Amino acid sequence: MIDCHCHILPGIDDGAHTLEAALDMARAASTSGIEELVCTPHHLNGVYDNPADAIRQASANLQKCLLEVGIPLRVYPGSELHLVPELPRQLLDGAAMTYNDLGKAALIELPKATIPMGAETILEQLLYRGVTPVIAHPERNLRLARRPEQLAEWIARGCKAQLTAQSCSGDFGERMQRLCRRWLESGWVHLIASDAHRAAGRSPDTLAAGRASVAEWLGEEAATLLTCENPRRLLNGEDLVSLAPRADPRTAPARRRWLGFLPWRR
Ligand SMILES: [Fe+2]
Repeated sequence: MIDCHCHILPGIDDGAHTLEAALDMARAASTSGIEELVCTPHHLNGVYDNPADAIRQASANLQKCLLEVGIPLRVYPGSELHLVPELPRQLLDGAAMTYNDLGKAALIELPKATIPMGAETILEQLLYRGVTPVIAHPERNLRLARRPEQLAEWIARGCKAQLTAQSCSGDFGERMQRLCRRWLESGWVHLIASDAHRAAGRSPDTLAAGRASVAEWLGEEAATLLTCENPRRLLNGEDLVSLAPRADPRTAPARRRWLGFLPWRR
């Protein structure tokens, strides 16, 4: 597997605090079947600023340490970029880090409860400049969870969506898990990732459980697409492949069952 969202770089955001903690995360990743991983520290979220140069250097340092201690994990630079008006300019200037430093796709973070004013304009600016926005854990944004048609519209315009593995596996509750399943069945999801911050709890090894949920719902091929093939495409700067829709979100399984009880449906 390739984990495309992980806060493993030590001491630069709310992920690993020390190099030792980062190496513990790397061991957890490696033993759970992750062979490659993208380091995605926060940038522009009002608390952490991690310009591309710093991430480039920190990723290279971590890779060196991994080789020295013999952990078989390859790491790449990336960043989790908050959706703010200065983001398009920073991406154009090279001040903000894209996936694998290629300038082709960027992991975009929304606030938890709202969609900022002008979000569509910022996303359009990125798409226009040839940078594909990958929306980080849209299932955890309250507005998108309530109005998923907004996400569907962004995806129709060219954005991609990455779910957190723990949302899929049920660690964040059944309701969240059901929502993830609906979105996966609707063909809206392109990637799942750990969004790990620690070696235990919010750990890289949660990706395996998220993958297992996807495999149970959509089959092995879909699980491989979301955890191996599409992440590989991100790292190569290639377009991501979408899942074929299996259900209309408006007629998700729960509602279909309920409608079956209505007399005029019999
Ligand atoms: Fe994150």
